[in-house]
Amino acid sequence: MAASIHGQWSSRWAFILAATGSAVGLGNIWRFPYMVGENGGGAFVLVYLVCVAVIGIPIMMAEVLLGRRGRMSPIQTMGALARIEGTSPSWSLIGWMGMLAGFLILSYYSVIAGWTVAYVFRSASGGLDLITKDGAGAMFGALVSDPEKLLAWHTIFMVMTVIVSARGVQHGLEKAVRFLMPALFILLLVLVGYAMNAGDFARGVEFMFHADFSKITAGAVLDAMGQAFFSLSLGMGAIMMYGSYLPQDSSISTTTATIALADTAVAVLAGLAIFPIVFAFGLEVNAGPSLIFQTLPIAFGQMPGGAFFGTLFFVLLVFAAWTSAISLLEPAVAWLVEKRGWTRIMAAAWAGIVAWALGIVTLLSFSSWDFSFHFFGSQKSNGLFTIFEILTNNIMLPLGGILIAVFAGWKMASAHTREELAIGNDFGYALWVTLTRFVAPALVFLIFLNLFGVLDWLLG
Ligand code: PFF
Repeated sequence: MAASIHGQWSSRWAFILAATGSAVGLGNIWRFPYMVGENGGGAFVLVYLVCVAVIGIPIMMAEVLLGRRGRMSPIQTMGALARIEGTSPSWSLIGWMGMLAGFLILSYYSVIAGWTVAYVFRSASGGLDLITKDGAGAMFGALVSDPEKLLAWHTIFMVMTVIVSARGVQHGLEKAVRFLMPALFILLLVLVGYAMNAGDFARGVEFMFHADFSKITAGAVLDAMGQAFFSLSLGMGAIMMYGSYLPQDSSISTTTATIALADTAVAVLAGLAIFPIVFAFGLEVNAGPSLIFQTLPIAFGQMPGGAFFGTLFFVLLVFAAWTSAISLLEPAVAWLVEKRGWTRIMAAAWAGIVAWALGIVTLLSFSSWDFSFHFFGSQKSNGLFTIFEILTNNIMLPLGGILIAVFAGWKMASAHTREELAIGNDFGYALWVTLTRFVAPALVFLIFLNLFGVLDWLLG
């Protein structure tokens, strides 16, 4: 099919960089460690890695393949492909649900990204120097209980996102990601080096890689799968959208593997940087969303040149969040341009305003609207923010993923998927078909069932 009306990446590398920019973000550095901490460590990490390999990678390939074949926003792409494959137009529901998930995710993503912007200034002004455990806790507490400040940071971040989105993702994103991603990676290595010297590295490694399956619950498995979808940006059409800008001659399988590997490496490094410090300073592993904001300031506060490294780190984290946020907005923006004929500027601005307004809910979830509740046997706090997280990451993204896999695996003619994937050997293609048709949808389905206790009931 001809190139997308929204443009095309300049090369395969540009796509890899942009998709890695989408994948690597707060999900790896902020969310992964606290999920690991809340779910007991090693066994969760193992389940996560299995989810990335057998669910994430095949579904990512399916998303890129659908995107490149349709060359439009996910809603339009799914409609067009359903027509070509002679199946029901309702498949465009994947696009609708994805767009809704995108708005919900962006609404809280921007608030958390706002926290990281705030920490750039705290670090640069020397505010983290020699900070104690209690001091770091108090600093975070003061920030999240000040809605006006949070609103300011959230607004700044959303405006940044809208500006890049309005200009078109092919401009600027590629160049930014080319330098910033490697820089973030190097800085994470520096942090891991610090954790090796100053932290309780052995305990951190033991916590992350010693799999104690007695700690794993149905909820933890669902969290691991949800985290895999969230971290790889899957199930909502962001990767489908980026795939629609991929040149026809680029290999989908090698690009996808590169992206998944980079994303996983960043998450594991973040864990290795954080847990040794958590243990050395007697912090709580299950501190939840505040985890990195309680631990990293202590590390930066103690290390030589910490104000410099800390500032640089938070700046890079803001960039990583920025490149992810842009991708969250892209399916909606592209759809408004295609279907409604809006200019990109109008489309980005309106989509941004909707997500921004929704963000107020999260903003207040850490102060006046905070409430606790039970979810399948575990105690959760931070009210609607947590409900948004569960709804999007644990339900909507995996559901979107199943539908994408079923469409690509069962509804599309294999001649079409084979042609689009262009995997040189038959074994590679057969492996993808098996994973996409059977393994990935079945696993997601089983994980859902288990959460609702159906499996226990059937097997017991
Ligand atoms: N993958 C991003 C992260 O790990 O921070 C978050 C994200 C971006 C999720 C885009 C979903 C998405 F479509």
